[in-house]
Amino acid sequence: MKQRMDKIASDDVNFATRQYTLMLDQVGRKGKVNNPRTIDKLGRLVCVPIDDWCSGFFAGDLWEMYKLTGDKQWADQAKRFTENLDSIQYLTWHHDVGFMIGSSYLNGYRINPSKAYKKVIVQTAKSLSTRFRKGAGVIQSWNVDRGWQSKRGWTCPVIIDNMMNLELLFEATKLSGDSTYWKVATSHADATLKNHFREDGSCYHVIDYNPNTGEVLHKHTAQGYAHESVWARGQAWAIYGFTVCYRYTKNQKYLDQAVRTLNMMLRHPNMPNDLVPYWDLNAPNIPNEPRDVSTAACIASALYEMDKYLPENGYHALADRIMTSLSSPAYLAELGKNGCWLLMHSVGSIPHGAEIDVPLNYADYYFLEALNRR
Ligand code: GLY
Repeated sequence: MKQRMDKIASDDVNFATRQYTLMLDQVGRKGKVNNPRTIDKLGRLVCVPIDDWCSGFFAGDLWEMYKLTGDKQWADQAKRFTENLDSIQYLTWHHDVGFMIGSSYLNGYRINPSKAYKKVIVQTAKSLSTRFRKGAGVIQSWNVDRGWQSKRGWTCPVIIDNMMNLELLFEATKLSGDSTYWKVATSHADATLKNHFREDGSCYHVIDYNPNTGEVLHKHTAQGYAHESVWARGQAWAIYGFTVCYRYTKNQKYLDQAVRTLNMMLRHPNMPNDLVPYWDLNAPNIPNEPRDVSTAACIASALYEMDKYLPENGYHALADRIMTSLSSPAYLAELGKNGCWLLMHSVGSIPHGAEIDVPLNYADYYFLEALNRR
C-alpha cells in the first residue's frame, strides 16, 4: 500500500509540475498579477480581486509546488503572487484574511523568514482582531450592512470557516510576543466548540450571536442544503481548524472535536466509498448530487497532521485512501484541460448558484499541501 501510494504521490508531483507550468503560461509570468480562482462555463480562467477570500490560494499553490520540487522558479513566482496581496494586511471588512495571508505570506515566511513578511502577518492579525466581539468572545465573520448577508436577519454571524483564520493569530503571537492574538484565537475556538456543533459531531455553518452577550440568535446555513444539514466543506473546516488549534495549544478538547467531526463524516450513510463527499451529506438527490473535491482535499491534509498526534488511529492510511481517489482520472484533470487546474469537481456554493462542479484554487491548494505533508 505504502509503495503504491508513494508512486501515486510522485506521479501527482510530476503531473502538477507540467500542469502548473501551463497554468503559469496562461496567467503570465511577469507584469500585471492576476489571482486565478476557477474557470467559467466556457472553460475560461476566472481571476478575482485581491480582497476576495480566495486571492491567496494561487500563491499558496506555488509555494507548495516549490516545497514539492525544490525548483526555484516556483518560489520566484510564489513571491510575486504573494507580494501582490500586500495591502490585505489592512483589510477589516471581512474575516477571511487567514486564508488569504496564511496561504501566501505565512507559507512564504516559513520557507524564508523575513522581517517584511513577519510585519504583514502581524498586521493582518491586528486587522482581523478588530472583528473580535468581546461580549460574545468571537470574531465576526461577515458584515451585515450590505449584500446578501444583510437579508438574513443576522446581527453577528460567525461561520465555521472562521476556524481557518486562527492559525494566523497563533503565529502572530509567536512572531510578535503579543498574546492578544492567541487569546482571541482560543476564545473564538471555545465559543465555536460550545455553540457550533450538534450532538452527532456535525457542525452548523452559521451561528449568529448577540455580540454583547454571546446569546445565540440563529443556527443557520448559507452554503449548505438546509439549516440542519451537513454542509461538507464546513465539516472539513472544522476538522482542519480544530486540529490546528491543538497544534498550538495542545489542548485535548480541540483534537477531540476534530476527531468527533471526522467520525461523524466517516460513519455517515451518505459518505461515498471513495471518501469524496457530496457537497452536502443531506443533499436531496444523492447519489445524483455534485461531489466536493475541495472538502476531500482539505480533510486529507488535516488527516496527515492528525496522524502525528494520534498515530494509532490509521489516519495516514485514511488520508492515502482519499489521495488515491483524488489522484484517479475521476478527479485529477488531464494535462492542459480543466483550465490547467489539477483537480476537477469542486463546489463553491450551490444555494448561490455559484461554482458548481468546477476546479477551485483551494482544492488544489489543500491537495498540494497534503502531498507535502505526506
Ligand atoms: N469560505 C467559504 C467557503 O468555504 O466556501
